Amino acid sequence: MRALVMTAPGGSEYSHVREVDEPRPGPGEVAVDVARAGLNFVDVMARRGDAGYVASWPYRPGREVAGTVRALGPGVTGLAVGDRVAAATTGGGLAEVVVAPAVLTVPVPDAVPLPQAAAAPLGLATALLLLTGAGRFTPGDTVLVHSAGGGIGRAVAVLVPLLGGGRLIGTVGRPDKAPAVEAAGYHAAVPRGEGLATAVLAATGGRGVDLVLDPLGTTALEVDLAVSAPGGRIVLFGNAGGGRLDALPPAGRLLAGNLTVTGFSHRGLLADAPEQVAGALRRVLGHLADGTLGAPVTELPSLEAVPAAHDLLLAGRGAGKYVVAVRG
Ligand SMILES: NC(=O)c1ccc[n+]([C@@H]2O[C@H](COP(=O)([O-])OP(=O)(O)OC[C@H]3O[C@@H](n4cnc5c(N)ncnc54)[C@H](OP(=O)(O)O)[C@@H]3O)[C@@H](O)[C@H]2O)c1
Repeated sequence: MRALVMTAPGGSEYSHVREVDEPRPGPGEVAVDVARAGLNFVDVMARRGDAGYVASWPYRPGREVAGTVRALGPGVTGLAVGDRVAAATTGGGLAEVVVAPAVLTVPVPDAVPLPQAAAAPLGLATALLLLTGAGRFTPGDTVLVHSAGGGIGRAVAVLVPLLGGGRLIGTVGRPDKAPAVEAAGYHAAVPRGEGLATAVLAATGGRGVDLVLDPLGTTALEVDLAVSAPGGRIVLFGNAGGGRLDALPPAGRLLAGNLTVTGFSHRGLLADAPEQVAGALRRVLGHLADGTLGAPVTELPSLEAVPAAHDLLLAGRGAGKYVVAVRG
């Protein structure tokens, strides 16, 4: 079978589509014929060589897929060969066949097209868990989302109205990304740089934000603290730049501001609480099926197109969510 293989840390020169052995499902696992796979920044970080993402090279990227069940491992019940499914994986999803834990393999309703389903196991599920779990979103909240122009930022924009509505402020790495972010549903989009806290506060009428979703390591933490309203929650959920993480703010600052700083890791949940990811995946697929949620994606034609798309994401020039057509 064909799979994307990263042979060493670096750039796209180390990413190749290769023939590899087909994986077989072990106990409690499901083999999936991949129709569509989602692209995620975590694979860009892995390719870049960020610490903690790749145990050994060559590395097989791909963390979310949609397709049909190819084979069931021993002990798997509730699924049958040929079922349409979406699955979260710990890797290897950018391939014609991937093996996923059965607990993370969820039926896709007929009404949901597989390109949309492929954006759900990591992208949409993460956005839902960030809002409803770690972020304790309540209707009417003002939410600040850093890197609002990427897949997660777009997912938050479609989920907040579904969860009761709120005011959305996004930050972007390049000013030319701001119009698309506002068109996607953000009330304001602010380029990151000098005066960011002032601009965000101005966009809230001086009141501050209730929730910050921050995948920028600790680089924007000072801004997050400065713009948070009393009772504000700050969720740290990534380290896009790959730099060193600073210490958290002194407890006195959190006490005085009635603030909460929380971490979130999809990868951590896959290992420790996979049912939470599966529950979020079921919920977003249900909303996609009944039409209460739309999730626009940009579709790449083949696995061969993925290294260039990863280049685009690495350069901060991506727009929205990308999925790739792996099979017809
Ligand atoms: N903790 C988790 O479980 C989890 C799950 C999913 C995603 N994430 C994180 O959430 C972030 C967004 O994910 P995504 O799926 O929306 O990503 P994406 O669609 O691949 O887009 C990447 C985003 O990262 C931003 N970015 C910030 N700093 C960057 C840098 N130094 N180099 C390149 N891009 C940079 C870019 O926008 P701007 O230039 O506008 O900032 C862009 O929106 C990523 O950092 C990802 O690792 C974490």
